[in-house]
Amino acid sequence: MSDGKTEHRVGALSDLHEELPITATIGDKLIAVFKLGDAIVATNGTCPHAQGPLYQGDIEGTVIVCPWHGWSFDLKSGKCEEDDGLALELYDVVVKGDDILVRL
Ligand code: FES
Repeated sequence: MSDGKTEHRVGALSDLHEELPITATIGDKLIAVFKLGDAIVATNGTCPHAQGPLYQGDIEGTVIVCPWHGWSFDLKSGKCEEDDGLALELYDVVVKGDDILVRL
C-alpha cells in the first residue's frame, strides 16, 4: 500500500498509560498519543481553537478538555462539542512490538 504516508515512531507501548499521553513532534506538528482502554488514539497535541496544550487536558471517558478555555474534544471522533467547525485530526496508529508508530 502506498498512500504517501510514513510511519514515525513516537514512543514505547510500555510507556503509554491512561491519562498520560505520549507526545512527539513530527515535522511541524505536535502529536499526542492517548491510551483509551484497549484503543490507542493519535491526534493533535495542540488545540485547534487557539493552539493551547490540549495534551495536558483532563480526560473524562473519551473526551479531553483543553486546559486553556475548557473546550471539549472527543478523542475517538475528533469532534469539538463547542464548535462544529473544529475537529481534531486523527492519525493511523500501528503497533509493532513495543513501538508505537503514527502514520502521516
Ligand atoms: S485553546 Fe483550547 S479551548 Fe481554547
